[in-house]
Amino acid sequence: MTMNAPESENASVKSMEQIVSLAKRRGFVFPASEIYGGINGFWDFGPLGVQLKNNLRDAWWHDMVVAPPIGPDGTPLSIVGLDSAIIQNPKVWVSSGHVGGFNDPMQTCRQCKKLFRADHILDMLSKADWVASFCETLGIDSIDATATLSGEDLSRWAKNRKGGKKLASGMALVRKTEETVSWLTAADTPDTMTGLDLARLLSTENRGEEIQNPCPNCAGDLTPPRDFNLMFESFAGAVKDDANKVYLRPETAQGIFLNYKNVVDTSRVKMPFGIAQVGKAFRNEVTPRNFIFRSREFEQMEMEWFCPPAEAPQWFDFWKETRRNWWISLGVDPENLILRDHDLDELSHYAKEGSGTADVEYRYPFTHPHYGELEGIAHRTDFDLKAHQASANVNLSYLNHETRDRYIPHVIEPASGLTRGVLALLCEAFTPDESRPSKVFMKFSPRMAPIKAAIFPLVNKEGMPEVAQKLYMKLRQKHAVQFDVKQNIGKRYARMDEAGTPYCFTIDGETLQDQTVTVRDRDTLSQDRINIDQVESFLAEKITANTPD
Ligand code: GAP
Repeated sequence: MTMNAPESENASVKSMEQIVSLAKRRGFVFPASEIYGGINGFWDFGPLGVQLKNNLRDAWWHDMVVAPPIGPDGTPLSIVGLDSAIIQNPKVWVSSGHVGGFNDPMQTCRQCKKLFRADHILDMLSKADWVASFCETLGIDSIDATATLSGEDLSRWAKNRKGGKKLASGMALVRKTEETVSWLTAADTPDTMTGLDLARLLSTENRGEEIQNPCPNCAGDLTPPRDFNLMFESFAGAVKDDANKVYLRPETAQGIFLNYKNVVDTSRVKMPFGIAQVGKAFRNEVTPRNFIFRSREFEQMEMEWFCPPAEAPQWFDFWKETRRNWWISLGVDPENLILRDHDLDELSHYAKEGSGTADVEYRYPFTHPHYGELEGIAHRTDFDLKAHQASANVNLSYLNHETRDRYIPHVIEPASGLTRGVLALLCEAFTPDESRPSKVFMKFSPRMAPIKAAIFPLVNKEGMPEVAQKLYMKLRQKHAVQFDVKQNIGKRYARMDEAGTPYCFTIDGETLQDQTVTVRDRDTLSQDRINIDQVESFLAEKITANTPD
C-alpha cells in the first residue's frame, strides 16, 4: 500500500471534489434531506441528474429488452422485461442466502465508537491524517514501509496536535505515552517493523488480544470483525413483530428468479433467454462513501440469462465482452475500463467455486490509477432456482419440448449499477478547460446528454426570438431541448457547457436572410452554418450514432 499522491502532482487525475461541486451547482446530484443536515448514504437527483439517469436507464432497456444484442449465431437474443415488488415474502431472502450470508464484516472503535467495514480499513488508513504524520515521524513514505523504531520519536509524535486536538487521540501511545513507550522497549519486539505493524501494536490497549488494525479515525482499538447483515428491515401490517418482519430487496435479481416460471408459462420464450429488470435496491452499507459510488439506496439494471448448463461458460464470455463494449458505446474511454476476474475469496455466496464472476471496472478519480466496480457479470449456476425450488416446493425445471430434456437452467447475470453508472458518466464527462468561460465542460455522448440541444436567439429582438421559438417547438416534440433568451450568448454557451449540452443552435441576423443557423459544437467549439430545416435530422443522427446494432 502506498500513500496517494496529492492531486496537484498528478494533473491527469480529475478532482472528485470539483466533480461533486459541479454536480451540486448544476443540479445533477444533491445530498438527500440536505436542509436537515443530510443523511449518510442517501442522495437525490436534480433536474439534470434525473434526466441523465433516465437516459442511461432507457439506453440499457433499449439495448437489452427492446433491441437485445445479436448473439454468437448472428440472430438477436431473446430478452423480456419485468418489474417486481421491492418487498417480497421474507422466506425469499432466507432461500436466496441473503439472511444467512449477505453480511459485511464490521469493526467498531472502542475509543471513538465509529464503525468500519473490515475490508475498507487498510484503504482508509492509507488516507488518514494521523497516518501521514506518523509516517513522517518514522521517516517512511508509506505505512507498509519498514521503519527503525525510536521511543524518542514516538513519544514526540504522541504529543502532536492538529487544530488544538491531539492527533490519533484513541491510540494507547497517545493516551499513555510513557507507559506504552516503556512497554515497547521492554517487549520482545524487533528493532524494525513496518509502520502498520507498529501502529497496530501501539494502538492496542490489551496486548493479550489478537492485534487488530488501528482505527482510521482516531487510531484507537478496534473490536474483532463481526458479521453485519446488510438488509434493511421493516414490518408489513399493523403489528411490529417477527411474524410481520420484511426486508427491502438488496438486489433486483431475486424478483426475476421468483417470476421465472411465470415468464416461461406465459410468454413464448425458449432457452436460452433473459429477463431484465431495473429498479431500486437497498443495502445498509456500513461505510457508504465516494459520493454516489456506494450508497444505501441505489438503482440496479440486472438481467438474468437462463441457459442450458453446458452452454454457461460460452455465455459468460459473451456477456463479459458485450457488457464492456456497451459502456464504450456510451462514450466511456476504453482506457478507463477493464474486465477483472474475481479471485476465489471474492466470490459471492451464490457463485460457486470455478463458476466465475468478473467485473467491468471503471477508473474513478478516487481509485486512480486503479479501477473500481461498475458492473458484475456472474455465473450464478443453478443456485437460485434450485434454492427456491427446494424451499417453495415448486418445480422450476425447464422442459425442452423437442429433446424432452428436463433441467434447471444455469444463469449468467450482468448486474449493473444505474446509480454507479451515472457516477462513471459524470466522472468521464468532466473535462477541465481553462480557455473557456466555464473552465470546465461535461463531455457526455449525445445519447446520454441530459439536454440534447439549446436554441438561442442571438439577441432578444429583430424577429430572432420568434424564429428560435418555432424551432424549439418543433425539436421539443422528440428531444429534451432548451430555449433560452436571457444573458449574453457567451454566458448561455457556458451554462450549456457545464450541463454537457452537445449542440447549441443560434438564430442570428443571417438566419432571417438565408434560413441558416449556427451549430456550436460543445467539444470542438466549431460554429458551422446549417439550414434550419436540417436541424432536426442533424440532431437525430448525432443522438443515435454509436447505438449498438
Ligand atoms: N444481483 C447481483 C448483485 O447485486 P452486486 O455486485 O452486489 O451484484 C451489482 O451489485 C451492481 O450494483 C454493482 O456492480 C454496482 O454497480 C451496484 N451496487 C452494488 N452495491 C451498491 C451500492 N451500495 N451503491 C451503489 N451501487 C451499488
